[in-house]
Amino acid sequence: MGEKIMKKKLALLLAGLLVISFVGCGTPKDDPTQKDTNSTEMSETGEDSQNQPTESQKPETENSEDKQVDLSLKDVFAEHGMKVGTCLSPQMIGNAQMSKIILGQFNSVTMENAMKPDAILNQSKSVQEGNLVVEFKQDLVKMLNWAKENNLGVRGHTIVWHSQTPDWIFHEDFDMSKPLVSREVMLDRLDHYMKQVFEKLEEGGYSELVYAYDVANECWMEDGSMRQNNWKATIGDDYLWHAFNLANKYAPEHIDLYYNDYNEQFKEETFVEFVKTLVDENGNYLIDGIGLQAHLYTQDSLEEYFEAVDLLATTGLKLELTELDVSLGAWQNTLAATDDNLKAQGRFYYDLINGLFERVDAGKVKMDALTFWGFADGLSWRSDASPLLYNKIYAPKYSYYGAMQIKDKAGFDD
Ligand code: GLA
Repeated sequence: MGEKIMKKKLALLLAGLLVISFVGCGTPKDDPTQKDTNSTEMSETGEDSQNQPTESQKPETENSEDKQVDLSLKDVFAEHGMKVGTCLSPQMIGNAQMSKIILGQFNSVTMENAMKPDAILNQSKSVQEGNLVVEFKQDLVKMLNWAKENNLGVRGHTIVWHSQTPDWIFHEDFDMSKPLVSREVMLDRLDHYMKQVFEKLEEGGYSELVYAYDVANECWMEDGSMRQNNWKATIGDDYLWHAFNLANKYAPEHIDLYYNDYNEQFKEETFVEFVKTLVDENGNYLIDGIGLQAHLYTQDSLEEYFEAVDLLATTGLKLELTELDVSLGAWQNTLAATDDNLKAQGRFYYDLINGLFERVDAGKVKMDALTFWGFADGLSWRSDASPLLYNKIYAPKYSYYGAMQIKDKAGFDD
C-alpha cells in the first residue's frame, strides 16, 4: 500500500516535471519536413516559437479580443448568400482556442483527411465481402457529430482521386500482388463505393449537413490531358462520366456534385470541354459545380485568375473556391513573413474576395460557399509560406481583414 502511494507520488512528480518542461519549451512543434503534401494532419497547436511573427508583423488589433468577437467571416459572406468554411482535423475540435475560432468565424467544414478514400475504405472487410467496403472511422463520426451539434455545413471530400487512395482497391481480390481488375469489376466496385458513401451519411443522420461533394479530385493535367491513374487504367477514359453518373444515382438531390482541381487558372479551357461530357442521355448535366482549390500565391495574377473564373462561369455550373490559401511569394519562391509581404497578402485576399463578391452580387458567378484550407498559419500544409488568415499565435493577420473586406486594416495603408 505504502509502496503504491510512493509510486503514485513519484509518477505525479514525474508527470509534473514533464508538463513543466513541455510548457517551458513552448508548444509541440509542427515539423514541416515530416509532412507529406498529401497527408496533412495538423499539429496540435501549430505554434512554432522560432517562427512567430515579430511585433512589427502583427496587425495592431491582434490583442483586442473585443474587436475580434464582433467580427465574423460568416456574417460577411452571408451578405452575399455564401457560406464560408475551413478544413477540419480531429485535434481542432478538441482544442478550445481552435474550436472557438471555427465556431465564431465559419459555418462550413471540409474534413481535411477523414473522408478521403484511404480513410474510409477498409481492406479486410472488402476482402471478406468480395467488394469495396466503406467504413466511417471514429474520428470522422466525432467530427460529423460536432458539425451537426454546431449547425455547420459539410463539403464531402473526396471519392475518386489518384492520391490518398489505396492501391489494393484496383487489384484482383484486393491483393496488390495480383493484376489490376477488369473494367467491369472496377465499375462494380465504384458503384458499391459510391452507394455506401451516401448510405453511410444517411444512416448516420448526416446527409442534411452535406451541401456539396467532391465526386472527383485532380483528374486533369495542365496540358489538357487526363491524369494517368488506376481509375483510368482499369475503367478507361470514361471513368469520370461513370463516377458522376453513379453519384447522381446515389446522392440525395440537395447535395451538389462537384469536380475539384488545382491550378484552375491554367486548366479552365480543359474544364469547360470536360464538363460538356458530363451529361445524361437528355443532355442534362450530371455535375452541379466546379471546385477551384485556389492554392494561390501573393504574386499570382488576379487578372488571370478572374479570367478563368469568368470563363468557367459560362458553363452555367456553380463555382466554389474549395481550398483557398494564399502563400507569400511565388511557386517555388516563397517569401518570409515580413510586414510588407503580409500586407501584400492582405491586399491579395481583399481583392480576390472583393472580385468574387462583385461577380456573385451581379449574378455573373453562381457561388454559394468558399472554403479556406485551414485558418491559422501554423496549422497549414504550407505553414512555411504563411498562407492563412491567422498567425501562429492565432492573431488575425492583414489577410483576415482582407477576407473580411475591411480595407483599412488589410494592408492598403501605405
Ligand atoms: C489537395 C487535396 C486536399 C489536400 C491538399 C493538400 O489540394 O484536394 O485534400 O490534400 O491537396 O493539403
